[in-house]
Amino acid sequence: MNVAIIPDNSVKHLCSKVPYLVLSIFMNNTTMRNKGTNIKITVKNLTISYNDEGPNGAPVIILIHGFPFNKSMWNDQMEVLTEKCRVIAYDVRGFGNSEAGTDDFSIELFVTDLINLMDALKIEKAMLCGLSMGGYIALNAIENYPKRFSALILCDTNCVADTPEAIEKRIVTIEKIDKYGVEPFANESIKNLFAPISFVTNQEKIAIVKELIMKASMPTLRATLRALTTRKETCNKLPDIKVPVLILVGEDDKITPPVAARQMHKNIKGSILKVIENAGHLSNIENSYEFNIHLEKFVSSVRLK
Ligand code: MLT
Repeated sequence: MNVAIIPDNSVKHLCSKVPYLVLSIFMNNTTMRNKGTNIKITVKNLTISYNDEGPNGAPVIILIHGFPFNKSMWNDQMEVLTEKCRVIAYDVRGFGNSEAGTDDFSIELFVTDLINLMDALKIEKAMLCGLSMGGYIALNAIENYPKRFSALILCDTNCVADTPEAIEKRIVTIEKIDKYGVEPFANESIKNLFAPISFVTNQEKIAIVKELIMKASMPTLRATLRALTTRKETCNKLPDIKVPVLILVGEDDKITPPVAARQMHKNIKGSILKVIENAGHLSNIENSYEFNIHLEKFVSSVRLK
């Protein structure tokens, strides 16, 4: 037996004084919402781990992490968004507590996983927020499934494909990981992820991010680096985006710099661009205070539409 939780606005005529109506339904395709953190769901043979918090019936926002992190990179945002939104942060396949599966990784496969997850959770439409690789996934998702998304938040990301130099660099990185392991890779990555000021004032956050990177497995690092080399550009499709878009970028982002964010802003009509001070590539972690102000304001404006 499955239980469906139905928000009150859809059943006002039935039960105006009860906030939520809980119905027991004898149907195979009806699922009960599991609230909490590190929930596991198996979708098309792949077990995905996700956090699902916030009120039932509230607008849904889905958060997609960057490479090589996991859903916990959104903890500061989960805290503020869950007041008014149903917030879902999930581990991309191979990362955190999600299975890697057997298919070759690609941005297209990650998008299929996202849509499969939305279908399994019965989410018809959501706001989508992705950082860096999460942004690559979000841009590909909105290009291919425009009806499934009501707004887009692109954080420290880019619409271009890898240049031959970038591809070469990722191949060298795979070789180094194979030879020396994950820790030297984590140490090298940290140097590029943060604003200079953070190495003086934010050692604690740097240590947390290093731990996050160290949790990624070697097969996942290899498979994802390969997937990133083959990703297609999405710049040509930016003018087709018709939903509200917020672009956030750290002023010291060396990986997907403000110039890339400005280019996307120019090509997405009506988009809003905010440059986050004292932040590099992980602006949501490094300056979560400023990041969250812009995020909350944008999400509230979308919810009111
Ligand atoms: C990320 O943060 O997701 C990565 O920096 C993306 C990339 O390497 O292109």
